[in-house]
Amino acid sequence: MTTAPESRFTFGLWTVNNPGRDPFGDATRAPVDPVDSVHRLAELGAWGVSLHDNDLVPYGVSASERDRIVGRFQAALTSTGLGVGMATTNLFGHPAFKDGAFTANDRRVRRAAIGKAMQSIDLGAELGAEVYVFWGGREGTEAGVAKDPRDALERYREAINLLCAYVREQGYDLRFAIEPKPNEPRGDIFLPTVGHALHFISTLEHPEMVGVNPEVAHETMAGLSFHHGVGQALWADKLFHIDLNGQRIGRYDQDFRFGAEDLKEAFLLVRLLERAGYTGPRHFDAHPYRNENPDGVWDFVRGCMDTYRLLAERAVHFDGLAEVQAALAHASVPELHEPTVVGAADPEVLKAEAGQLDALAQRGYYNEALDQLLTEVLLGAR
Ligand code: GCO
Ligand code: MN
Ligand code: MN
Repeated sequence: MTTAPESRFTFGLWTVNNPGRDPFGDATRAPVDPVDSVHRLAELGAWGVSLHDNDLVPYGVSASERDRIVGRFQAALTSTGLGVGMATTNLFGHPAFKDGAFTANDRRVRRAAIGKAMQSIDLGAELGAEVYVFWGGREGTEAGVAKDPRDALERYREAINLLCAYVREQGYDLRFAIEPKPNEPRGDIFLPTVGHALHFISTLEHPEMVGVNPEVAHETMAGLSFHHGVGQALWADKLFHIDLNGQRIGRYDQDFRFGAEDLKEAFLLVRLLERAGYTGPRHFDAHPYRNENPDGVWDFVRGCMDTYRLLAERAVHFDGLAEVQAALAHASVPELHEPTVVGAADPEVLKAEAGQLDALAQRGYYNEALDQLLTEVLLGAR
């Protein structure tokens, strides 16, 4: 199956190069050269890649070694025509970040974290990234008594404000996206959901520069509807980026291939993104199953993109069916688009309408038939 370039499918270097290490076992796949991954992704029809600073440049290398590595990677991007959709900083891997990065209690760690993010923003700008993500994996606690959450949020805000100012001073064309997650690796992470992040953004000095990067797995881990979270981000004009993968409620952070779990929710998500005209990268932040060898990694890549495209096709098909249009009308779905009160509200009229509840309770909303149509379209029966 070929991939439409307009879909702008991107993969994290850390996803295709994931070695299959988990808390109980060592790597099951050998390290991969990022340049090889760039070539392979281009062959398979991806639009681009995303990366953490240390997915490409190991921490602590000399400036000349950094430039050599980046130059070689840049050459691979140029020769394949692959873009960089998103860049980010690894603020979780180094043991110094064990108590947090921007919210570490030790002020020296916080300053080092901001400096590392600045270096990494320089790299992202050099590679032409359009979005810069902040995933605060270590920003949280196991021992809740060890951080006042108000102080932690104030320090988080200070860091993002400082980095916004840095981007403006440098004249970089870069927007930020905050990626919420409820837990893992910390017991509890600050900014756990899309809703928390959206409010946090509204407190920043430059809220217009900052949006969200919701991830299927993260909202699902919190037991929430992912497409509702994405819908709220779209509604707020804050969906700057998205992390697509598969996850079951109540499990560890599974990061499965997109669509590997809860196809119906994946369908609702893709239908929403396509209908909303989302123009950012369709970014896969998932891991191939640990029992795959290097060949299986590329099955995983094809699977993510194919499932997205198939769901997009199914969504168009669904909305084009006459019986679906009729069912949507029966369910009064278009009516929700209409304002509840047109013109000045007349309290007397509205109060009188409060007397109609018994009559209003009689109607049905046709949701059984409508949802079954969706199921049958998903199963290919229509
Ligand atoms: C996770 C996160 C990360 C981030 C990545 C980019 O749960 O591990 O999803 O994969 O998306 O660090 O910010
Ligand atoms: Mn994740
Ligand atoms: Mn992610």
